[in-house]
Amino acid sequence: MREFRGRTAVVTGGGSGIGRGLALAFAGEGMNVAIADVERDAAEDAAREVEGLGVRAIAVETDVADRASVHRLADRAFDEFGGVHVLCNNAGVVTFSPIHELDEADWDWVMGVNLQGALHGVQAFLKRMVAQDEPCHIVNTASIAGLVSHPGIASYNVSKFGVVALTESLRLDLADTQVSASVLCPGGVRTRIMESDRNRPAALGGPGDFAVRAGTQAPAPIDPAEVAARVLAAIRADAPYVVTHKEQKAMVEGRFGPILAAFDAL
Ligand SMILES: NC(=O)c1ccc[n+]([C@@H]2O[C@H](COP(=O)([O-])OP(=O)(O)OC[C@H]3O[C@@H](n4cnc5c(N)ncnc54)[C@H](O)[C@@H]3O)[C@@H](O)[C@H]2O)c1
Repeated sequence: MREFRGRTAVVTGGGSGIGRGLALAFAGEGMNVAIADVERDAAEDAAREVEGLGVRAIAVETDVADRASVHRLADRAFDEFGGVHVLCNNAGVVTFSPIHELDEADWDWVMGVNLQGALHGVQAFLKRMVAQDEPCHIVNTASIAGLVSHPGIASYNVSKFGVVALTESLRLDLADTQVSASVLCPGGVRTRIMESDRNRPAALGGPGDFAVRAGTQAPAPIDPAEVAARVLAAIRADAPYVVTHKEQKAMVEGRFGPILAAFDAL
């Protein structure tokens, strides 16, 4: 996809962090933007900032873990703008505990938002995007933890590996259509991810003591605008993977070393 002006982008988790950076970058290219977020105020605030760039924006309160909510988002975006050309399944959350201390609600919450959330986006939007028969792109936000498992965040690792597989499957199966896909695998980005349990539903344990982690970050964090610029370039180039931290290449090589060695041992 090379033409952005006048087209429409939908960004889940668009009220904060990377999603907000993506929404602003798309608006900067002249795209109209639907900002979906479980935090209505954050979505509305982001939509106002996007409109300030001279494009149309709507804020849609959406829980990506709820399939019906994502279908309502899709209906609203297609009705409002007449088409959807870029879908960013970006909303995501994390919990921090060793795997033997995670409870079932930890797994349900993280898998529900990160993996089911992306899947719900694909289910609600993809058939209509293919039927549009215009260049379209799906960007799924995984993480470097979708390429290499990290300690202490097992449910996050599992969900993000799933998001990578979902994106690879999209590219394989959509090769004969005008829809393509990329997976975003960032390292540390300056956002509110460390406080993600501010949005944890009561039925799955409720908000935790998130304020204590405010301002804490993964190493070498970069700004969401830098990530968004890489995503725009990847859409234009139809690149399958978007990474952000050069030094993390060694981690990925470290993961594949033992896998390749297992074959060599045959
Ligand atoms: N920040 C990082 O270092 C980093 C690194 C790798 C990957 N990521 C991924 O980037 C994505 C965006 O996170 P961020 O870092 O911008 O964090 P963030 O907390 O700043 O933004 C996440 C947004 O998602 C929204 N959200 C949470 N649950 C939701 C739900 N059920 N339905 C809809 N919206 C929901 C939040 O309200 C928030 O606006 C996530 O998928 C995250 O896993 C972040």
